[in-house]
Amino acid sequence: MKLSASILLLLSTSITTLLSSAEINIDLLSWDEAYEKADKLINEMTLDQIADITTGKGLFMGPCTGVTTATTNPDFPALCLADGPLGVRGTPFASAFPAGMTMAASFDKEMLRKRGEAMGAEFRGKGAHVQLGPGMNIARVAKAGRNWEGFGEDPFLSGVAAAETIIGIQSQGVIAAAKHYIVNEQETNRMIHSVTIDDRTLHEVYLWPFARSVEAGVGTIMCSYNKINGTYACENSRVMNEILKDELNFKGFVHSDWLATHSTTKAANNGLDMTMPGGWIHFGGALKTAVKNSKIEITRAKDMARRIVASWYKMRQDENFPSIKMNTNNELKDPGTDVQGDHAKLIREHGAASIVLLRNKNNILPLTSKSGIKKIAIFGTDAGLDSGRKNNTSCGVISQCNKGTFIQGGGSGGSNVPYIISPLEGITKRANDLSIEVVSSINDGKTSEAASIAKTADIAFVFAKSYVAEMKDLSHLKVDNNVDKLIQAVADENKNTIVVIHSANAVVMPWENHPNITGILWPGLPGQESGNSLADVVFGDINPSGRLPITIAKKETDYPADVSSKFEFEYTERLLVGYKYFDAKGIDPLFEFGYGLSYTTFNYTDIKMNMNNITNNNINTQVTVQVQNTGDQDGSEIVQAYLSYPESAYEPPKLLRGFEKIFLKKGQSNQVTFHLGKQELSIWDVTSQQWIIPKGLFRIHIGASSRDIRQSISFNI
Ligand SMILES: *[C@@H]1O[C@H](CO)[C@@H](O)[C@H](O)[C@H]1NC(C)=O
Ligand SMILES: *[C@@H]1O[C@H](CO)[C@@H](O)[C@H](O)[C@H]1NC(C)=O
Ligand SMILES: *[C@@H]1O[C@H](CO)[C@@H](O)[C@H](O)[C@H]1NC(C)=O
Ligand SMILES: *[C@@H]1O[C@H](CO)[C@@H](O)[C@H](O)[C@H]1NC(C)=O
Ligand SMILES: *[C@@H]1O[C@H](CO)[C@@H](O)[C@H](O)[C@H]1NC(C)=O
Ligand SMILES: *[C@@H]1O[C@H](CO)[C@@H](O)[C@H](O)[C@H]1NC(C)=O
Repeated sequence: MKLSASILLLLSTSITTLLSSAEINIDLLSWDEAYEKADKLINEMTLDQIADITTGKGLFMGPCTGVTTATTNPDFPALCLADGPLGVRGTPFASAFPAGMTMAASFDKEMLRKRGEAMGAEFRGKGAHVQLGPGMNIARVAKAGRNWEGFGEDPFLSGVAAAETIIGIQSQGVIAAAKHYIVNEQETNRMIHSVTIDDRTLHEVYLWPFARSVEAGVGTIMCSYNKINGTYACENSRVMNEILKDELNFKGFVHSDWLATHSTTKAANNGLDMTMPGGWIHFGGALKTAVKNSKIEITRAKDMARRIVASWYKMRQDENFPSIKMNTNNELKDPGTDVQGDHAKLIREHGAASIVLLRNKNNILPLTSKSGIKKIAIFGTDAGLDSGRKNNTSCGVISQCNKGTFIQGGGSGGSNVPYIISPLEGITKRANDLSIEVVSSINDGKTSEAASIAKTADIAFVFAKSYVAEMKDLSHLKVDNNVDKLIQAVADENKNTIVVIHSANAVVMPWENHPNITGILWPGLPGQESGNSLADVVFGDINPSGRLPITIAKKETDYPADVSSKFEFEYTERLLVGYKYFDAKGIDPLFEFGYGLSYTTFNYTDIKMNMNNITNNNINTQVTVQVQNTGDQDGSEIVQAYLSYPESAYEPPKLLRGFEKIFLKKGQSNQVTFHLGKQELSIWDVTSQQWIIPKGLFRIHIGASSRDIRQSISFNI
C-alpha cells in the first residue's frame, strides 16, 4: 500500500503503526527544521544524557545489533541500529532481498528505490531506527570479501544506487547508514591496515557514492575499520571533519563500525559522533571525563548529540515510531512481527531484472513450448537446498552459512532468510507446466554420474557458486568445489550446456570457449526468490536486461589490483579502477563492465546534443539518442552514457556518467535523454580543493556497454 505524503499527514500519523509491513511515504523534515527541534532537546540535556545517547550499550546487549541508552526528562529513546544492507538480520519473519551488487546489475533506478522502500518498511515494522546499509565501498579488488554488499566497481553507478536506496529506506522514516567510510575495500587485516591514497582518487572514486548519499539526505554514516594515511577512519579529522562535515556539509551523525573506535578525545574532536557497540569504552564515562577536563569542548559534545537527535527528528521518529520487535525466536510466530508484506513479489521481480545473460549462442534461451525441449538436466550443489537441512529456512536467523544454493553472502551484510526457492524448484515448476521432464544430480563431486545423465537430456544446466563472507577475502577467482570439472564433464556430453553462476565477484571461466557451452547466466545473489527469478528469465516471461556492474577478466592477473597482505599499502592504480584500467591498458576482458544480452536487439541512431548555460559554475549538456527495438520480442535496454575528458585532464579513457532503462515493444522506438551538468563534467582539483570543469574537447559515447559504443558526439568547453 502506498499513501501519498499529504494524505498521510491529514490522517493521524498513528496510522503508520498499523501498516507495519506496507510502504508508507514519510514527509521528512529538512535539516534546518530538524536542527531547530534538536537544539531545544539538546539544550535541556545534561552531560550524562549526552554520554548516554552517543554511546552504545555494548556487544550483545539486547536484540538489536547496536543500541544506545534512553534518557528521561528530556525523553529520548534507546536507538536500535540493525543489520543489514539487504534486509533485517537476526529476527524471523523478515525478507531476504537481492544483494547490493545484484541490484546494481539491474541498472534500474526505480527498482533500487522500491527495494529501499520495502527494506525500510521491514526495519520500521521491527522498530529498528537505523538500517545499517547500504554499503557503497567500491569493488576495487575482485577478491574482496564484501564486494557483494556494495554496488560494483564504478562510482557513478554506486552513487545512483546508493542515493536511490537511501531515499527509499528513509521514506519509511528509517535512518539509512552509508557505509563503510572510507577506503574499506578489502577484509584482510581490515582492523589494522592503512591505505595510502591521493586526494584526487579519494574524491573521484571512493568519496563519490558517499557524496551522493549526503545529497540524498542520509541520516548517518558509518566510519570504517581501516586507517587512511596512517590514521584510523574513526579518528581521522581529514575524512570526517574536513571532507564529510565541511566540504560535503553532512548534517547527520557519524557512528563507528563495531569496535572501530580507538580513542576518546581524538575520535570525538576529529568527528566521531556515536560509538558502536560502545559499552562505555572510549565514550560514555570517558567522554564525560574528557569534557570535564576540557579535552573535549562541551559545544562539541552537544554537536555530537544534536546530530543524532536531528536525524531522528528528520525521519519523524518522534511521531509514533513502532517499538522494538526484534524477536530472536525463529519458531515463535508472532503476527505482529511479520514484516514481509508482499515483498516476495518484488524480490522475484528484482531478482529477474538483475540477471545478466552473458552468452546465448543459437538463441538457446528462452525455453518455450516451441523450443522442442523434452528433457532438462540440472547439476551442481548450487542448484538445490542442502540435503542436510531439515527445512528450507536456510541457515536460520544467523545468515552465515554456505550450504546449497548461494543467495546472499555471510556475515553482518546478510539478513533473515524466511525460505529459499531453489533453482531446481523454480525451474522444475515451470518445466512441468510445459510438460518438460527434469532430471538432476545436485552433487558437485559426482562428475561421471552427471555426465551420463547429461547425455540423455536436451539441455543441461550446471550451477556454480563462489561463496563470500565478511572477514575473509577470496584466495582465488575459481568457482567453489572444483565445479569447473563438473561443467567440463557435462559440456563434453551435452551440446546445449548452460552455466549459471551465483556469485557477487567475477569468476574465471576456463571452460568458456567449450563449443557446447551455449549459455552463461549470472544471477548474482538474488535473495529468497532465486529459483523463481531465474525461471522467469529462462522460460522467457522476463526478457533479461541486467548488466555487469563489474569487469569479468579473462584471467586473474589482468586486474589492476589485488588483496594486499601488507599493513600499509597504496591504491597505486589511482583512477584506473575496473574497466577504466582495462580500457587504458588495452586489455580485453572476457565480459566488460555494462555488458549483458537480451532476447531482442536494439539499434541506436540520431545522437544530438544541446548545450546551454555555460557560465563559470553552471552548465547543462543535454544529449539525446533514438533507440529502437529491432528484434522480435518486447524488452528493456540499458542505455549507457560514457564521458571522455580532454587529454589534459588525465582521466581514464571513458567514465560512466549516465544510464537509463527503457522498455520498448518490438519495433517500437523512443528517445532517451541524458543530462550532464557540472557534477558529471567536473574533476577534483587538488590545488584549489574544488570540482572544476577542465577546458578542451569532450566526447560523449552512448552505447549498450562500456565497449559497445553505438553513437558518439564531441563538444568543446
Ligand atoms: C593522504 O596522503 C596523500 C599524500 O600525502 C595526500 O595527498 C592525501 O590528501 C592524504 N589523504 C588523507 C585522507 O589524509
Ligand atoms: C529448521 O531447521 C533448523 C536447522 O536445521 C532447525 O533449528 C529448526 O528447528 C527447523 N525448523 C522447523 C520449523 O522445522
Ligand atoms: C518453505 O518455503 C515455503 C515457500 O516455498 C513456505 O511456504 C514454507 O513455510 C517454508 N517452510 C518452512 C519450514 O519454513
Ligand atoms: C558436444 O556434445 C556432443 C553431444 O551432444 C558431443 O558428442 C561432443 O563431443 C561435444 N563436444 C565437445 C567438444 O566436447
Ligand atoms: C541501425 O542503425 C544504423 C545507424 O546507426 C543504421 O545504419 C542501420 O541501418 C540500423 N539497422 C536497423 C536494423 O535498423
Ligand atoms: C539556465 O539554467 C537554469 C537553471 O539551471 C534554467 O532555468 C534556464 O532556463 C537555463 N537557461 C537557458 C538559456 O537554457
